[in-house]
Amino acid sequence: MAKMWAGRTSGMTDRVADDFNSSISFDYKMYRQDIQGSIAHAFMLAKQGIISAADAELIAQGLAGILEDLDSGKLPFDETAEDIHMFVEQELTKRIGDAGKRLHTARSRNDQVALDLRLYLRGEADDLVSMMVELIKALLAKAKEHKATIMPGYTHLQRAQPITFGHHLMAYVMMLLRDMDRVKDARRRMNQSPIGCCALAGTTYDTDRDFEARELGFDGVMLNSLDGVSDRDFALELMSAISILMMHLSRLSEEVILWSSWEFKFVELDDAYTTGSSIMPQKKNPDMTELIRGKTGRVYGDLMALLTTLKGLPLAYNKDMQEDKESVFDAVETAKACLSVMTPVIATMRALPERMKKAAQEGFINATDLADYLVRKGMPFREAYKISGELVARCIREGKVLETLTLSEYKEYSDLFEEDLYGEIDLLTCVEKRTSKGGTSVKSVEAQIEWVEEQLAMNN
Ligand code: ARG
Repeated sequence: MAKMWAGRTSGMTDRVADDFNSSISFDYKMYRQDIQGSIAHAFMLAKQGIISAADAELIAQGLAGILEDLDSGKLPFDETAEDIHMFVEQELTKRIGDAGKRLHTARSRNDQVALDLRLYLRGEADDLVSMMVELIKALLAKAKEHKATIMPGYTHLQRAQPITFGHHLMAYVMMLLRDMDRVKDARRRMNQSPIGCCALAGTTYDTDRDFEARELGFDGVMLNSLDGVSDRDFALELMSAISILMMHLSRLSEEVILWSSWEFKFVELDDAYTTGSSIMPQKKNPDMTELIRGKTGRVYGDLMALLTTLKGLPLAYNKDMQEDKESVFDAVETAKACLSVMTPVIATMRALPERMKKAAQEGFINATDLADYLVRKGMPFREAYKISGELVARCIREGKVLETLTLSEYKEYSDLFEEDLYGEIDLLTCVEKRTSKGGTSVKSVEAQIEWVEEQLAMNN
């Protein structure tokens, strides 16, 4: 069949060219936005006296019918259509005749596709934000439960100082809050209307772009028509924010994977979110978090693909830009899938405080606090440091920890040791002494949780 744009050429394109050119296999996802945009466009044209009110009404009704039939699956997407925009317009004309042919006045597919993509990604950004809120809430609940659960904090993956599991989880909450902010920020900049920029130069018709933008919930209109049809920075921004989010999800995944190994066994994952091995009967694998870690690379790839596609394009529209959709759809859908599984993984994950405590005790991470104890009793720090070190060495030799040495054993090293030393090297005491703002003390973790809850409340 000849193309809708037949005229300058016969429109009789080769089958191979058609298949190669067509984007409906992926841009069909924007059918709702395409119809929404076209309805607003028709009413704007009528308001401006460019088409009749009766035609606008026919167009709106026709489009509403198409939407209903696409939603219900009654109307299948025509795989031979060039793209979603052509498909909807063709179907409209099939249904309402001449009025349908008037819809494409004072617009081009170039501003139409920019519009549809902005509308579509705006909705996806909203979805992402609500899903991030859910993950933050799951982490907050765990952090509350474990605000006093001692675990070793690490640097270089070596036991360093005692912290609480709640404090550790709250670090991810803070990262996710910033991720959320970045997505919202991208959405805010994205929310400017390109419709009415037309092919590249604007139009001679007396259109009302502001009206159309308001109808579609935009904050304003794009003020340069070339910019409006040429740039895809809004998709890149969203993908950048998503890439950073994925980096955070990947680090959290990596820790969940480590924590659920026998070597750590700090957490037990719920059976519902683990898999078995086809050959090793003992296995309980953290596939969900491994996949999140794995999919992170793919999302980075989506971002790089679009950056690279755009870097050499002259203004304004070029067909290369059709390549934007698969990348950005994949990034968004991958991130949504990862969030939807990460939230229940965290919510159902059981912490094993005894295991964490044991690891914390075996790391001599209270040796600094022991030296400080002697210093407070009057001993110079260097001397206290040396004695603490010798005590650690003795523990290692004898398979003990600082908490299990007897007072008489302590007294072999210094008469300053008294019964109260055990209170000072108690790991919870060590944690509780770290009261600086943002520190690991229970009070500080409580303050963090409270602050985040305020932020979430303000968000709604
Ligand atoms: N399917 C095209 C895209 O996704 C729509 C815009 C086509 N515009 C054009 N002048 N060929 O970019």
